[in-house]
Amino acid sequence: MNIISLTVWTLENNCFTVYTALIVCFVGFTIFHKNKLEAHYRSLAEKKFNKTGAKRIPDREFPDDGDDDPELLVPAIPEDTPHIPYKPIKRTDDEILERSREYYELMAQRRTVRSFSKEPIPEEILKNIIKTAGTSPSGAHTEPWTFVVVQDPDVKSAIRNIVEEEEDLNYNKRMSRQWVTDLKPFGTKPEKPYLSDAPALLLVFRQAYSWRDDGKKRMHYYNEISTAIATGFLLAAIQYCGLASLTSTPLNCNSRLRDLLSRPVNERLELLLPVGRPHEDATVPDIQRKPLQEIMVKI
Ligand SMILES: Cc1cc2nc3c(=O)[nH]c(=O)nc-3n(C[C@H](O)[C@H](O)[C@H](O)COP(=O)(O)O)c2cc1C
Repeated sequence: MNIISLTVWTLENNCFTVYTALIVCFVGFTIFHKNKLEAHYRSLAEKKFNKTGAKRIPDREFPDDGDDDPELLVPAIPEDTPHIPYKPIKRTDDEILERSREYYELMAQRRTVRSFSKEPIPEEILKNIIKTAGTSPSGAHTEPWTFVVVQDPDVKSAIRNIVEEEEDLNYNKRMSRQWVTDLKPFGTKPEKPYLSDAPALLLVFRQAYSWRDDGKKRMHYYNEISTAIATGFLLAAIQYCGLASLTSTPLNCNSRLRDLLSRPVNERLELLLPVGRPHEDATVPDIQRKPLQEIMVKI
């Protein structure tokens, strides 16, 4: 029996074992080289982007979270980040009490406005508001947010078209009848003139993850709550400087608005906030806040 006949005879009689062994080897090889291949493809993609001068937008998901390869286990920010003294202004109890009262009074005046003046607002104000939101705490300092500012009338109009189309379906087909009923006191409807009237629209995107320079996926721990806290800072800054906003959550608009605004796939639209001065005829529902004893539990 020559070598060829021997090989054919072995394959014929042990084909199940041979194919299983080949599959196991292939899977093992793929898992073993997964990280290196991903880093390689990432650096190739980056080189291509750099050559074309195009804006770097991650468009591929690298599902390597939970990877414990010791070589890749380095903190996302340097481990030797120095710790510096923290010395905020010292205040007396009386000052603190007075400031807590003043801040409460200011924030108690904040209302959601659904009718805006078209008067423009200087860009520097918007920058300062967003800088304030960017001071928010975040899980492992991942800062998982992007604030898109839209002032261009054509882009505002495109956003309005998308939101109104989706809201028409939401109100008539997707939302429960109870939900639509609960919204009646606020007078909300699929038509959203404020999306063209307000001088600026701020769209809050949440980043579920990002990429490190070495191509490894960087998880954004607690990205939902971090982005929600940053949005709270944003709303407080808008109120503090004397402007008004509308906290809205455009239902089912994520992918269309993300595409319109060229945001990458690791970002999800959470909120759309028209910002500006209230229209002089603006009204708000006369709602009451829960009293302190209902929201505070003292132990
Ligand atoms: C998470 C969230 C989503 C909201 N979504 C909408 C919305 O899509 N459209 C809208 O008109 N108002 C929306 N609102 C505004 C609420 O209706 C409003 O905050 C509430 O009625 C209380 O009124 P106030 O903000 O004037 O205190 C939303 C508020 C929050 C916090």
